[in-house]
Amino acid sequence: LHPASEDIASSPSLASLRARAIDCRMCELCGPATRTVSGEGNPKARIIFVGEQPGDQEDLQGRPFVGPAGQMFDRALREAGGHRADTWITNAVKHFKFIPRGNRRIHQKPDASDVTACAPWLAAERRVLAPGVTVMLGVTAASAVLGRPVTVSRERSRHIPLEDGSIGLVTVHPSYLLRLPDEESKTREYTKFVTDLRMAISALA
Ligand code: URA
Ligand code: SF4
Repeated sequence: LHPASEDIASSPSLASLRARAIDCRMCELCGPATRTVSGEGNPKARIIFVGEQPGDQEDLQGRPFVGPAGQMFDRALREAGGHRADTWITNAVKHFKFIPRGNRRIHQKPDASDVTACAPWLAAERRVLAPGVTVMLGVTAASAVLGRPVTVSRERSRHIPLEDGSIGLVTVHPSYLLRLPDEESKTREYTKFVTDLRMAISALA
C-alpha cells in the first residue's frame, strides 16, 4: 500500500479529502492531467453516484460530470425525480487519462491498476459520506465499488447488498447512451437508465 493511503483512510471529512487529493501523486495519471477532480455535492447526501474518471471538460473545470455525459446524467436524474443538489457525485479514478492527438485529448479507459491505485480515495469518500445507496455508473465504477469483475448487463437494475449494509445499484454509464448509433436504441436505453435511477432513489425511502 502507498504510504499516503493511511492518511487518506484517516481523513475525517469530505473537505479534508478534497484538500489532500489536490496533490495526489500515487499514480502516473497525475502527470499529464490538469488537476485532480474530486467528488462534489451535498455532504449530507444519502445517495452517491460513482462514474469512471473525469473527461476533458471535467479535467478543465475541476468538477465531475459537467461535460456531455454529465448533461445526459443530469437530465436523466431530473426525469427520475432526483435533484443533483441532494446527491454526491464522484469517480472511481480522479485524474483524466487520455492520449493527445493533435490538439484533442482522446479519453482512455482506466484499467484495473488505475482503479486500484485510486481506490483509497473512493473508499474514504464512501466511508465519510456513508450513503444508503451507491449507484455505479458503468463497468469501471461497478468493479471499483464491488471489488470484483462485473458484467453490467447481468448485474444492473437491482438492489445489491453491500458489505457495510447499504444498497448498491449498477447501471450503464451515461456516455454509453451518447454513443448509441440510432434514435430507437437511444430512446430505449435512456428509458432504462431513468428507470434504474428511479430504482436507486426508491431504495432511500
Ligand atoms: N465520465 C465520468 O465517468 N465521469 C465524469 O466526471 C465525466 C465523464
Ligand atoms: Fe492519485 Fe487517483 Fe490521481 Fe492516481 S488517479 S494520482 S491515485 S488521485
